[in-house]
Amino acid sequence: METTPYDQVRYPGKFYPQASADRLATLGRLCGLASALPARCRLLELGCGDGGHLIPQALAFPQARFVGIDLAATAIAEGRQALAALGLDNLELRVGDIGEVDPGPEPFDFIVAHGVLSWVPATVRQRLMDLCARCLAPQGVAYISYSALPGGYLRHVPRDLMRFHTRAIADPQQRPRAAREAVDFMLAAVPGQAFTRELIEREMAGFEGKDYFLLHDLLAEDNEPLYFLDFIDAATACGLQYLAEAEFGAMSTAAYPGPVRRRLEAMPRLEREQYIDFLQLRRFRQTLLCRQGLVVDPAVTEPRLDGLWLSTRALPACPDAEPHAAAALEFRHPYQGSFRAAEPLAKALLCALAAGDPRGMRYADASAAVARALQGPAPEAAARLAPAAPLLPALLALYARDLVEIHAARWTHATAVGERPRASPYVRRLAERGAPVVNGAHGTFLLPTPMLRRLVALLDGTRDAAELLEALVAASPPDEREALSPESLQRRLLLLAQNALLVD
Ligand SMILES: C[S@@+](CC[C@H](N)C(=O)[O-])C[C@H]1O[C@@H](n2cnc3c(N)ncnc32)[C@H](O)[C@@H]1O
Repeated sequence: METTPYDQVRYPGKFYPQASADRLATLGRLCGLASALPARCRLLELGCGDGGHLIPQALAFPQARFVGIDLAATAIAEGRQALAALGLDNLELRVGDIGEVDPGPEPFDFIVAHGVLSWVPATVRQRLMDLCARCLAPQGVAYISYSALPGGYLRHVPRDLMRFHTRAIADPQQRPRAAREAVDFMLAAVPGQAFTRELIEREMAGFEGKDYFLLHDLLAEDNEPLYFLDFIDAATACGLQYLAEAEFGAMSTAAYPGPVRRRLEAMPRLEREQYIDFLQLRRFRQTLLCRQGLVVDPAVTEPRLDGLWLSTRALPACPDAEPHAAAALEFRHPYQGSFRAAEPLAKALLCALAAGDPRGMRYADASAAVARALQGPAPEAAARLAPAAPLLPALLALYARDLVEIHAARWTHATAVGERPRASPYVRRLAERGAPVVNGAHGTFLLPTPMLRRLVALLDGTRDAAELLEALVAASPPDEREALSPESLQRRLLLLAQNALLVD
């Protein structure tokens, strides 16, 4: 088999929540499709690398079926080793060329191509789109990410410089280092506040310390950004239509000044999306498509939330927070930071979800909890509020800001530290390798310290707290042992539980 650039320099796979079966099912249902639920779905990934995106899903949904196809035989071989080690039999990883491969006659509920479309030749791009159209189930959802214009033009400034500077260097190991020299050379030539410096620093920010990413993205032979509407034209020609963006907030107009927002909202949907790309200089899109002929209605209605789950990672800063009181409440979110909520329904929903089961609450239960909370103890408080107001707009506004999660599968993690705490074998495997771990709430989490990684690796469910402490001391270098205590161990275990990394 021919060696590809991805065989020469590996591109480590990882889980992308926005391209998961759960997200695709959720967005499909919110937009009015009868999308399959993840637990029994069939999902195909084109350009799956080593299966890093598929493995955690295959583990989470043993009744579902996953197929991954990639041209790089070394990546597929590495993925297959992981399958064997984890005993997974519902995920098939195949070496194949998108340009020729036949994924078989059985349709897929979800098809994913992340980081592929803009980085393959035009013929493969066309075939990728054709495959999505041919293999998608009637109510299926396809996810395709791509480099977008006009932001992609800005990206081509450092790309062209680096490709020019490395034009005589064939060795893929050498090219990223030489390319970075060219960037440093350019930065040395421009003063601190110059537009050029700002542009280069902004465009290079995501490549820090990731030579493999620089090589396969900015330095790649193919790197073709495209306008959203050109992408949609290509999809339309294959019999597909626009469904949504994989990040719900990416379609929001809420952040724009009133007059701009009103003009955007008056536009037809596709045109609005294209204008938003101009306004934001968008450089990357994660677009969901479905078959033509289906009625796609982005105006979410309450019945579409049936069968979905709500949860939040936000907690009220003050544990006795009273959502019925008039004052704004402060919340803390582990990834979005602190924020204040003033709108009564938003406050009450966040408090209801924070007090409920972190693995998920049904919309009807959340609505009931919000109605109860808004009645409040004092009659004048109840009079100030409008308990009959629909909860849905508040929910969607919080979802668009990633402060509340809507998901198609109930999360499965442990909600407290058990007597013999356990992390899943896959999480332990990732922790041992220093890779970001995938938690039970379908998120990724980079364990911040070697001590935490060592602890996770020990969580096979056989040790109680005293035995864990003993094993952790034995596994740690002498200069780190002194800081270990029963209290510090409990703090770390609690952090893991709060981040959905423990299982029952
Ligand atoms: C940038 S990587 C993305 C990998 C993975 N989807 C991710 O996001 O982590 C692109 C992947 O597409 C694969 N690829 C490129 N051309 C392909 C083709 N013609 N057929 C199948 N896979 C291809 C590469 O081998 C590589 O694994």
